[in-house]
Amino acid sequence: MTPFGTIELTVYPYECDAFGHLNQAALLTLLERARWDALARGPGMDLFDRNGVWPAVRKATIEYRAPAFARDVLRVETTVVGRGTTSMTLRHVVRRASDDATVAEAEMVFVCIDRVGRATPIPDEIARFLGPRASGGHQPIRVPAGDVELAVDVRGEGLPVLFVHGFPFDRTVWRHQLATLSRVRRIAPNFRGVGNSGAPPGADGYSLTRYADDLVAVLDAVGVRQAVLCGLSMGGYVIFELLRRHPERVKALILADTKPDPDSAEAKRGREELTQVARRDGQDAVIERLLPRLLAAATQATQPEVAGQVREMAHRWSVPGLVGALRTLRDRPDSTDTLRGVRVPTLVLVGSEDQIAPPDTGRAMAQLIPGAQCHVVPAAGHIAPLEQPLATSRAVADFLRAIP
Ligand code: MLT
Repeated sequence: MTPFGTIELTVYPYECDAFGHLNQAALLTLLERARWDALARGPGMDLFDRNGVWPAVRKATIEYRAPAFARDVLRVETTVVGRGTTSMTLRHVVRRASDDATVAEAEMVFVCIDRVGRATPIPDEIARFLGPRASGGHQPIRVPAGDVELAVDVRGEGLPVLFVHGFPFDRTVWRHQLATLSRVRRIAPNFRGVGNSGAPPGADGYSLTRYADDLVAVLDAVGVRQAVLCGLSMGGYVIFELLRRHPERVKALILADTKPDPDSAEAKRGREELTQVARRDGQDAVIERLLPRLLAAATQATQPEVAGQVREMAHRWSVPGLVGALRTLRDRPDSTDTLRGVRVPTLVLVGSEDQIAPPDTGRAMAQLIPGAQCHVVPAAGHIAPLEQPLATSRAVADFLRAIP
C-alpha cells in the first residue's frame, strides 16, 4: 500500500510545447503537484513545515514512454521505494486515464534538510506517514530447504519470477525490481549462508547443487511449478545448474551480468586469496577488495549510496557462507553447452561498464541461446539492477510482458 494514493491531474495547454506535448518542466511540476495533493488529502500540506524540515530533491530520473497532450487526464501513482535515516526515494508512474498507457516513470531521491540546509533524520511523524523502512517492511517468509531454512521475500500476484542474487549480495540487490514490477509475483530468496537464511558451518554445506536445489525448494514451498528465473552473476551460475538438474521448472530466463565460462587459473588463485581474507578479516574486508571492480565509474561518482548498499549486503554474509560460495565459484563448470541447449525465451542483460561479465561476453552468451535477446544497460557496472534500476526494470518488464 502506498501512503500517497493515486492522484489525477489534467494537462493544461500552457504546459505543452509548440507541438502540443506536455513538456519536461511541466511533467516535473505535475509530479510535484501530485505529491502535495496527496499530502493535502492525508497528513496535511504542512507536514514538513510543522516538523521543521524540508524534502530537497537530490536526484531525479525520468523515463518518457508516451506523449501526453493538453486536456489529457493523467493518473499519478507514487510509491515509497526506499527510506534511509535522512533520505527517501519515491517512484512515480504516470498513466493516461483514458487508455492506461504509461506516459512516464520517474524515480526521485529526496534528502530531509533542516532550516540551514543540513541533512537531518526524518522526523517520526513523517516516518510514520512514509511507512516502514524497506529493510523491515517486507518480512521474509522462512522456507525449509534441505538442511537449512531460507529467508524468502514473496510479493504480488501474476507470472512467478524468481530473483536470484549474486556474490556477495543478498535479495535486496533486487530491491527496485521487487518494489516496482507490480504485475508479476516476485520471489527473492537469500542464499544459504546469507542474512537470515541458515548457514551450515562447514564449506561442504555449500555447492552449486545445493544452491540450485534450494531454489527448487523455494518454488515448491510457494506452490510454483514453473517460473521465470532471473539471476545476477553468481545467481546466473546457480541457474545454469538448475537448468541441468530441473529444466522442467524453467519458463523463461533473465541472465544479468553473468557468464558461462569457468574460472581461469588466475581467477581460482583469486578465490583462494579471498577465502583467506574472509577467514582472517571477515566480510567487510572481502567487500572492500571487490568494490572497485563492481560499480561503474558513474555510479561511484554520482550515487555514493549504492556503494553503501553493497557494503550492507556483504556485511550480512556469514563467514562460512562466504567461504562456501567462494569454493563453489572456483569449482563451477563450463556452462556453454548447457546454454546451447536452452529452448525458453531468454533475455541477457549486461551493464555497459561491467568489468566482470563485460558486454562482449553477454552478447556472446546470448548467441549461444536460440532467439535470446541481449540488452546493454548504459552507465551500469556489474550490478545493473541496483545501479540503473529504471533502465533495468524497464527491460525486464518489457521482456516479461512478451512471455506467453
Ligand atoms: C557475482 O556478482 O556473483 C560475482 O561477481 C561472481 C563471480 O565472482 O564470478
